[in-house]
Amino acid sequence: MAAAPTAPLLDVRDLRVTFTTPRGPVRAVDSLAFTVEAGRTLGIVGESGSGKSVTSLAVMGLHRGAEVTGSVTLAGRELAGLSERELAGVRGRRMAMIFQDPLSSLHPYYTVGEQIAEHYRVHFGAGRAAGRRRAVDMLGEVGIPEPARRAGEYPHQFSGGMRQRAMIAMALACEPDLLIADEPTTALDVTVQAQILELIARIQQERGLGVVMITHDLGVVARVAHEVLVMYGGRAAEQAPVDDLFADPAHPYTRGLLDSLPRLDTADDEPLPFIPGSPPSLLAPAPGCAFAPRCPRAAARCRERRPELTAYGNGHGAAATGVAPGGGGPARSVACHFAGTRTAEEATR
Ligand SMILES: Nc1ncnc2c1ncn2[C@@H]1O[C@H](COP(=O)(O)OP(=O)(O)OP(=O)(O)O)[C@@H](O)[C@H]1O
Ligand SMILES: [Mg+2]
Repeated sequence: MAAAPTAPLLDVRDLRVTFTTPRGPVRAVDSLAFTVEAGRTLGIVGESGSGKSVTSLAVMGLHRGAEVTGSVTLAGRELAGLSERELAGVRGRRMAMIFQDPLSSLHPYYTVGEQIAEHYRVHFGAGRAAGRRRAVDMLGEVGIPEPARRAGEYPHQFSGGMRQRAMIAMALACEPDLLIADEPTTALDVTVQAQILELIARIQQERGLGVVMITHDLGVVARVAHEVLVMYGGRAAEQAPVDDLFADPAHPYTRGLLDSLPRLDTADDEPLPFIPGSPPSLLAPAPGCAFAPRCPRAAARCRERRPELTAYGNGHGAAATGVAPGGGGPARSVACHFAGTRTAEEATR
């Protein structure tokens, strides 16, 4: 079925992922909804264990052993309920994923060129010679010098940055519409990290690729994302266009993340604030706001009722702030209404 002209490239609704463990069910992702448009980057940010990787694996249909419910549509096509075989086809052709560790995707016994060629052959039904040509072209496109020679080398002969480029080459060989990158630059030094981010941005522009960039680093988000999803305990804490998120964070957790970013005016010996405490247990979630035990603004009622995600308009929403219908406005900063601080309405009076 053709997508309606306004349909987003990726539309995820009410995504829930539950693992059955000996200690009980673990709801790793709960009631999550987000969209990604062609040519745009959604940054997903959150602490370790917040459900970023589980979300991306569920979108890709790679959630081994988990119960997944909700809807995932790619260019208007519902992926929930597809057979493993159908999903494998979609994965190769329409969406691709890259990981922090390229060696988890690259096989040590085959040359880099062989692996890209094979991937292309399987999904495009191309012949051997076409596969080889494609591999060399792709390695060139991702900035690997002497691509024809490097195609004949094994992954261990590549540096970390070059391996990451090779993985991007493989992911993009079949011209997917969507690229999910799970911490692709975390293991790299800052210079190489910048090069890889630039590479992804360039290819995105050239191809109109939709990108999901998963990271725990708000600096990366600021650099590449158009929209941001802040996850906490498997849920959306806040969603916003990137500039709004940085200028006017609504959730105390987002503010905590922003406060722990180094600034140009931070003295070298000045300790950065960090969010004390640890992420919530997903095994036996407490009834109220998952962030309440760590929230500097938490009041009794924060522990009683879970705040729903409230939309302020312009794509900005948070599971913390109460906003009157038609409210919003610029002075919303960290007004968690469950914490009894200013609501946007009060703040803008
Ligand atoms: N196979 C599994 N069985 C049980 N629980 C799991 C399984 N896989 C993931 N989880 C749980 O799901 C939660 C989310 O994990 P996830 O890997 O998505 O976090 P993350 O945000 O990607 O963290 P990181 O930044 O460390 O990569 C964690 O609490 C994790 O323990
Ligand atoms: Mg992860």
